[in-house]
Amino acid sequence: MTAGVAAPARARIAARTLRSDRWWLAPLVTNLGLATFVIYAAVRSFVRSAYWVADYHYLTPFYSPCLSESCVPGSSHFGTPFGELPVWIPLGFVVLPFLLGFRLTCYYYRKAYYRSVWASPPACAVAEPHAKYSGETRFPLILQNAHRYFFYVACLVSIINTYDAVIAFHAKDGGFGFGLGNIILAGNVIMLWAYTLSCHSCRHVVGGRLRHFSRHPLRYRAWTLVSKLNVRHMTLAWTTLGTLVLADLYVLLVSSGTISDLRFVG
Ligand code: FES
Repeated sequence: MTAGVAAPARARIAARTLRSDRWWLAPLVTNLGLATFVIYAAVRSFVRSAYWVADYHYLTPFYSPCLSESCVPGSSHFGTPFGELPVWIPLGFVVLPFLLGFRLTCYYYRKAYYRSVWASPPACAVAEPHAKYSGETRFPLILQNAHRYFFYVACLVSIINTYDAVIAFHAKDGGFGFGLGNIILAGNVIMLWAYTLSCHSCRHVVGGRLRHFSRHPLRYRAWTLVSKLNVRHMTLAWTTLGTLVLADLYVLLVSSGTISDLRFVG
């Protein structure tokens, strides 16, 4: 074995770790959190019901943009260039692979699932079960380098979600309306933008490849702002999973008639 804790240059310690604290708690919580979101999102993406509130124009982010003739009338804000879809294709199929790719290749989520799912290593000073380590230099993990491209698509999706949130200020009888659903949908969009703009790739796009910040004051200013968000990237990564579920769940409950939207105007 040439790598890992059994490498010739490493100290010979029989125990897997000398840590006596609850080092397993963080990977366990991470696993539970990620699994809960993945299961919820997968189920919701396939059920094809209660994703649109016609009275107030609320559309869940899991079905946006809805671009096929299988979408309920009114929910296709950008037309229906695709015909009827078989039941095994989610109605949000156009962007779901890109959003999944964006999250999977995110630098924070990589750390999270490398540690908690692949146990590589599960925690600092805890031996990993793998004998070899090739990092992200070979297939399939070399595909992680596509993250910057997923970032560009994520920006487009955030613009679409913003549009959805804006046209959701709709009253039952037409005109301007405002309810609790608007606060939830707008809050979700704001957090999605914060997460997207706090991306490491965004930080590089904004301020990378410059020799002198002093000659690019605007980019320096933008880089400073993105850097402030960037230090909260982990928090934003988890927060947006929560706001996505909250936004979807609220639309589900209102659309299915389980609860009524709390209306302030219209
Ligand atoms: S690093 Fe997390 S979204 Fe780019």
